[in-house]
Amino acid sequence: MKSLSLLFLVLIISVPNAFADPEADRLALRAVYEKRFPDVPLDAHADGAYALDEAKREQWLEMEDFPPYEFTVDDGEVFYDTPFANGASYADCLGPDAPVVKQHYPRFDAASGEVVTLEQTLNNCRLENGEEALDYLSDELVAVTAYIAYQSRGAKIDIVIPDDPRALAAYEGGKQFFYERRGQLNFACSNCHIQMAGHMLRAERLSASLGQVTHWPAYRFKWEEVGPLHRRFARCNVQVRAEPFAQQSDVYRNLEYFMTYMSNGMELNGPSSRK
Ligand code: HEC
Repeated sequence: MKSLSLLFLVLIISVPNAFADPEADRLALRAVYEKRFPDVPLDAHADGAYALDEAKREQWLEMEDFPPYEFTVDDGEVFYDTPFANGASYADCLGPDAPVVKQHYPRFDAASGEVVTLEQTLNNCRLENGEEALDYLSDELVAVTAYIAYQSRGAKIDIVIPDDPRALAAYEGGKQFFYERRGQLNFACSNCHIQMAGHMLRAERLSASLGQVTHWPAYRFKWEEVGPLHRRFARCNVQVRAEPFAQQSDVYRNLEYFMTYMSNGMELNGPSSRK
């Protein structure tokens, strides 16, 4: 009896540590895919389902010959270069490396204690400069993120989780959301994008979770426009008949933080096109 309760105590003490080690999580996830798809280099997962399906990859590469997101990137550049009424511009809020900044987002903001995305940073920039915030699905905001993604191509994702309990809690929240079953169909993200990755779901080849965030925003043929990552999250929630969350809700920001950390070190390749 005594040794059992001691074992229990040891478990309770060791579990929080085991859960709060993002780098161990990241390495473990990479090991899963290395074993699962020994012929697919880990970096190739940045192409999503097209890394796992040769026929679909060929169709996709043909589409990419005339990238359907090209006009959005061009529009984004114009918005990015057009000063606000006060003369400042987006670049002034993004630091010296602007517009090559996507590799640092989302980031933990110590002042607010929350995860801040690139989209929010752009909107905060507008507010600070006397402009109105934009809808997160508006043409301008999506176009500016597409332009920044395009300029950031080739940069390696470099998400930092500072030694701050609030940052770790945000990461843990995102991780929990990813592994939690939900909706009438009772599926977790991990069920489709880890366990079933590479398999077909109706007509679609399921992508691996590694690299899922490298290429946003993306032009989806179903949407007939470029859209942000959180719109895809919402779609995947609806697919299992669960309630989607709002664009830029704390739930989706924490999820993005977790998922992007998992892809640390991978090259950005957005924007992209997807079915
Ligand atoms: C019932 C299965 C299913 C579940 C559960 C699911 N998805 Fe998906 N997801 C899909 C399908 C199908 C696609 C389109 C094919 C692909 O790219 O994997 C997709 C695509 C995606 C993509 C785009 C991949 C790319 O390369 O552009 C992301 C990101 C994504 N899902 C995230 C999530 C997240 C986060 C969750 C949990 C909230 C989730 N999915 C839950 C089926 C699912």
